[in-house]
Amino acid sequence: MEIPLWPSPHDPSRLGRPSRRAATAALETHIAVLKGDPLKAALANALRDAEGLGGQERRFVAMASRELSRHMRLLDLAARLLGHSHAKIVMTEDQALVRYTLWRRIFCGEGWTRIGPEVRLPGPVRPRTLHDAVLEGLVTKPLPEAPASESVVERLATRYSFPGWLTQRLADVYPEATLAGLMASLDEEPALHFRVRPAGTRDAVLAALAEEGVVAEAVPSSPDALRVADASHRIFETKMMKSRRLQVQDVGSQLIVQACIPAGGSLEGLTVADICAGAGGKTLGLADAVGAKGRVLAGDRSKRRLADARERVREFSLKQVTFPHPVPLDAVDVVLVDAPCSGTGSLAREPDQKWKLTAKAIKEFQTTQSALLAEVAAQVKPGARIVYATCSVLPEENDRVVEGFLAKHPGFALESVGEGWAPELQVGVDGPYLRALPPRVPGGGFFAARLVRKPG
Ligand SMILES: C[S@@+](CC[C@H](N)C(=O)[O-])C[C@H]1O[C@@H](n2cnc3c(N)ncnc32)[C@H](O)[C@@H]1O
Repeated sequence: MEIPLWPSPHDPSRLGRPSRRAATAALETHIAVLKGDPLKAALANALRDAEGLGGQERRFVAMASRELSRHMRLLDLAARLLGHSHAKIVMTEDQALVRYTLWRRIFCGEGWTRIGPEVRLPGPVRPRTLHDAVLEGLVTKPLPEAPASESVVERLATRYSFPGWLTQRLADVYPEATLAGLMASLDEEPALHFRVRPAGTRDAVLAALAEEGVVAEAVPSSPDALRVADASHRIFETKMMKSRRLQVQDVGSQLIVQACIPAGGSLEGLTVADICAGAGGKTLGLADAVGAKGRVLAGDRSKRRLADARERVREFSLKQVTFPHPVPLDAVDVVLVDAPCSGTGSLAREPDQKWKLTAKAIKEFQTTQSALLAEVAAQVKPGARIVYATCSVLPEENDRVVEGFLAKHPGFALESVGEGWAPELQVGVDGPYLRALPPRVPGGGFFAARLVRKPG
């Protein structure tokens, strides 16, 4: 399969036309990332400092900052082919300017007339050693065809800007067509997805949104998921959003909550523990699933994230959620273990993580995940279910953890997550597991397995 190296540019109208201040904020975010800051924190700082930017410009800053981390490898190859090796680019600021200029050219399809005013001297990005003429050359010189790389893996790693070792790891697992689709999806700005509440009211919410002038569409691979067709973010101003009939949530995350529901049954009135609740994304879905008569006991090792979860639970007025410490696992019907993981399924959202991840870190995640599962297993009552979930696309954090657990815990059995699911949801099902992989299931990559403690 021949994969063209250079992408077709985005529709520029989707991105808007940034002011010089917006371009500078994106550049400064990337410079902070290159100096070691996490992207999320760097972006929050840049947006705080760039007062007075409108909504669309702020979205441009966020997207551009993610894009610069996301496409680093391809942008650097373009720089090299146009005569700018790393050795020639002496400062971090220069490197960010080169990448930004090339991103605007290659991914946004802009020419120097547009890009020039965003990056030209005298500019606020300082210090810098690059002259305008150098940047102009990066836009006006023809982009050479890259030398044919030796292997498919290398080609994919370059085209979709992945570290070689991670691409090889994925290539060992996924057939070529699946791999290319997965990497392409993880190399793209992700669409915003929403969960409709209460369950089963998607058509009514879509109609209400349409009345407010927001065009949205159902996402068939999850029963309550939808996405908006336009990028204006007007959905956040709608009555549906303000009255909490919608929650921003990835499709795969919604499916993990579905995976907590036993085949042919319901969670209504049951007690569910969400022991890695984080900022409460899935806690809200679980609370809706157990209803007013059920209970969700939420916990997390991070107090800061749990404070965010409390806030969201309050906003959504979900009285069935409490935060006991420790969470009494011997009293619950279902435990969701949404385990800490490499986040390889969420690289579209957090592209800077691509360059931080190591093979050693994945091994360490696997050890933590297995320990967490064993700790939970020792406490739950017979008949209770454990749902083990990750946002990783690597079997060593998914299938291997579950297989290792079952080998050591004969008192547990694996249940098929997708049993009884509607045909349109089966795209996310792989044997007994939930394996939501983009682009077949839109959004990030997720995994879940359901284990039941045998009676007696
Ligand atoms: C994948 S995130 C959870 C995301 C969250 N469930 C959601 O839907 O938004 C994993 C969480 O596990 C927490 N964590 C890590 N180790 C833990 C442990 N030993 N016990 C409980 N929580 C842990 C982390 O703080 C992190 O919030």
